[in-house]
Amino acid sequence: MIDYSVEEGIAILAWNMEGYPQNVMNDHSYAAFIENMDKAVQDSQVKGIIISSKKDSFFAGADLKMMREMLAKDHSQEDPKTAFESAFKWNAVFRKYETAGKPLVAAINGHALGGGYEICLMCHYRIALNNPKTQIGLPEAQIGLLPGAGGTQRLPRLIGMEKAVPFLLEGQKVSPADALKMGLIHELAANPEDMLAAAKKWIAANPKAMQPWDEEKKGQIVARTHYKVPGGNIQSPKGAQLLMPGTALLWDKSKGNYPAQRAIMNCVYEGLQVPMDLAIKIETRYFMTLLQNPVAKNMIRTLFFAMQEANKGIARPKDVPATDIKKVGILGAGMMGAGIAYVSALAGMQVVLKDVSVESAEKGKDYPRDLLKKSVSRGKMNQEKAEGVLALIHATEKAEDMKGCDLIIEAVFENRELKAKVTQETEAFLSENAVFGSNTSTLPITGLAEASQRPDNFIGIHFFSPVDKMPLVEIIMGEKTSAYALALTIDYVMKIRKTPIVVNDSRGFYTSRCFGTYTSEGIQMMSEGIHPSLVERAGTMAGMPVGPLDVADAVAIDLAYKVMKQAEADTGVKIENQPSGSVVKKFVEELERFGKKNKKGFYEYPDNGKKFIWPGLLELYPLQAEQPSVEECKKRLLHRQAIEAVRCLEEGVLRNATDGDIGSILAWGFPPYTGGIFSYVDMVGLATFVKELDELADQHGERFRPTERLREMAANGESFHGVKEAALA
Ligand code: NAI
Repeated sequence: MIDYSVEEGIAILAWNMEGYPQNVMNDHSYAAFIENMDKAVQDSQVKGIIISSKKDSFFAGADLKMMREMLAKDHSQEDPKTAFESAFKWNAVFRKYETAGKPLVAAINGHALGGGYEICLMCHYRIALNNPKTQIGLPEAQIGLLPGAGGTQRLPRLIGMEKAVPFLLEGQKVSPADALKMGLIHELAANPEDMLAAAKKWIAANPKAMQPWDEEKKGQIVARTHYKVPGGNIQSPKGAQLLMPGTALLWDKSKGNYPAQRAIMNCVYEGLQVPMDLAIKIETRYFMTLLQNPVAKNMIRTLFFAMQEANKGIARPKDVPATDIKKVGILGAGMMGAGIAYVSALAGMQVVLKDVSVESAEKGKDYPRDLLKKSVSRGKMNQEKAEGVLALIHATEKAEDMKGCDLIIEAVFENRELKAKVTQETEAFLSENAVFGSNTSTLPITGLAEASQRPDNFIGIHFFSPVDKMPLVEIIMGEKTSAYALALTIDYVMKIRKTPIVVNDSRGFYTSRCFGTYTSEGIQMMSEGIHPSLVERAGTMAGMPVGPLDVADAVAIDLAYKVMKQAEADTGVKIENQPSGSVVKKFVEELERFGKKNKKGFYEYPDNGKKFIWPGLLELYPLQAEQPSVEECKKRLLHRQAIEAVRCLEEGVLRNATDGDIGSILAWGFPPYTGGIFSYVDMVGLATFVKELDELADQHGERFRPTERLREMAANGESFHGVKEAALA
């Protein structure tokens, strides 16, 4: 667990947890930590203690297994005293050792995250190996928690509130060089030998080290009652200046949906007014409120466990050997093709980028060229590497250049005939093992595969715009798509470091179909006479990144029109009878308001000013005398998306609820605090969800009506993630 040695009167505790890829906080490491620390503290020959690691990383934070157990527990039933003691135990020992009278130095040889960095904060001095890949930080807030082993108290006391608060709230991770600049560490070392020597030197020079918030009284190290926080205390004018607007800004950003960020602010505000011993108790109390809150549980489930598994390729058929994809062909060098070329080349693959002419293909190559230039100017990449990446992209007009490609990604115009033509033209040059993927956003894959000689090697690979920023890829299985094609596609997605979810074929697949319900419900609400500002604010207050009308404008109203017209042709449901269809039809056919692209949509886009809601909306759709509450509007917008996702699962478009959760957050920004769309339904509770859906359906239409299966689940007390969690308990 910990390798213990003494050199020149200095104890060296090197974390080395057997059976774990990384050092982590759990009951075993806790026991080993106190055993070894007590040994060092009690040994009168030991003058100081260095804490380091034998693994590549220093310490990764909480143990996943322990976190899973914590998730499964019903904390509301716990005895408060026992629960407090258990949550406080790391805090208690860190405090004990920082005041034990011996200098402590953290020798940070790799990642120090969460609890790992809190160990460093307990130490009086921190030295890190200068490796730009190393990450240092307290990322807990990103999964709905707070740093619960003193992080919220020690960091602001060290570097001041102004720097510490955003760092804590956002859960940033920084390199050792940046950590030094920010004051998170004291010193950089070029190699492990230098680091050890520097640690020993510091101990020799600081035999009576203590934390700045402590003082010595009668031979004992105790907390100062009045510690001067760098940059100003809470009560100082500077402190007030920081905290008041800070709280307002936080509210503006989070809309009150993220309890962790609020708890962190409270920890800082309350904790910094009292001595350290009490401050850490305040922190633990807030930590416990987060354990009892479904938000942390949901965020951890999806953003931590599920995402990690998806990124490791959990959906990949296990019995198919991995393919190392070396050469990718991209058809269409437009907006999407250019982005796909960039991410593929960046991952080291050879890319053939084809368009109708060499000029068009070269034009597509400008996009990666510009992005690479930016990376170089920002110091993120050197010139040589950037040139190397760009050289991997071969712009062409010839289909025969696709020879030798392992994977083709088609991104030509959204037109069935054209897609069929390029499929056939390209396949003539491909080997039998090559997989053909289409980046279509709307056309069913099974239909497109009919043009292919090898429909089993035909698959949907749906990227999101802008490709270089959006982390998700929705992989679509056609009726005949083979496990081999899926495995190879997942190998590719993992190589470009994006998160794959796998869905079955259907109109709009999963993501476009559910996202479309958000915009169409918003448009519908506005057309019923709900104030457009209320509709927009309800969207953002519910946690969506932008209001439904705003996003409808950005995506383009004429695109929605085209999709609806296609649906009319394919299903026979007239556009006027589709939700929001008559508004969309009017906007495109009569008003020629296409959205942001022609500066006229639900908003106006003046050349020299900020966009504003088009006043004509209020004339076309007069306001209802009595406006619904914002809570009702939020519910309507979120429930509408959620029932569509439930249908996707029941129809087999989605293969499991977890993919639905991941996809909803990463593809269209369903609020992360919910843990994704199915976790949202669980959080509402199925019985309540069904009841509220019935009410919404009675008022607004059958699109809200719960399915029979959902009713059964509610009656049986089931939930979407319940079984998994019960198994964990
Ligand atoms: P785009 O219009 O920017 O680019 C299409 C490109 O295909 C053009 O450069 C065109 O010259 C080229 N092209 C036409 N015929 C060709 C041929 N025979 N051989 C090679 N290239 C040919 O379109 P965009 O936005 O890049 O979309 C491409 C595909 O990606 C469409 O199927 C679209 O539905 C889909 N998609 C688009 C998203 C978006 O946000 N724009 C998101 C996800 C998918």
